[in-house]
Amino acid sequence: MEHFNVALDGPSGSGKSTAAKAVSGKLNILYLDTGAMYRATALKAIKCGVDCLDEEGVKKFIDDIDIKIEYRDGSQHTLLDGEDVSLKIRENHVSMKASDISSLKCVRLKMVELQRKIASEMSCVLDGRDIGSFVLPDAKFKFYITADADVRARRRQKELAERGQTVDFETLKKEIEQRDYNDSHREFAPLKRADDAILIDTSDMSAEEVAEKILGVIGASNVL
Ligand code: DC
Repeated sequence: MEHFNVALDGPSGSGKSTAAKAVSGKLNILYLDTGAMYRATALKAIKCGVDCLDEEGVKKFIDDIDIKIEYRDGSQHTLLDGEDVSLKIRENHVSMKASDISSLKCVRLKMVELQRKIASEMSCVLDGRDIGSFVLPDAKFKFYITADADVRARRRQKELAERGQTVDFETLKKEIEQRDYNDSHREFAPLKRADDAILIDTSDMSAEEVAEKILGVIGASNVL
């Protein structure tokens, strides 16, 4: 099998991570959840008492930030300063902070450097906002995954409920719309569909159908 990368971009709750897990599992290649890296950076700022939009404050720790991505039992673990923060970074209050901190250029440059290094060393499926448009413009496969805001808020509510967090639907929908706006309007490497990315609207699709569609495109090429 030749080396290749699969870029899955799109707004939150579009089904990217579920698809990325299924596709990487089926192809037996790495899944890199790039959102987890921005979430861990936001957690670092919270711990340091730095506002996630305070670029000067963030610059003080970003160059030496200790984020490690490890894989155990087939799933990604995100380590911050040696501590496994995989669950903590999923808490709802971290989501908006991650969106805020991801708008800072110094943060994006650092994360992109780490992502490009991993993607150059091994084939992987990366999910994020700017993978096909900025991080890996030459990725062999690019998809832009989206869905209606209502559907995305419902999915997010279910996901949080499964983790024991109760958040009402309207609050989640507003947060999702605010994050969509922030992520697509930031100045540097915003959420954007790459011109050559295949669009998949998952509003009326099951997770299996989304994975099948992506695997169908990859299978029809000559990489496997
Ligand atoms: O995918 P997620 O919800 O875990 O991402 C959290 C935030 O991180 C999201 O609001 C925007 C940011 N992000 C980004 O700017 N670029 C990426 N490649 C991935 C995530």
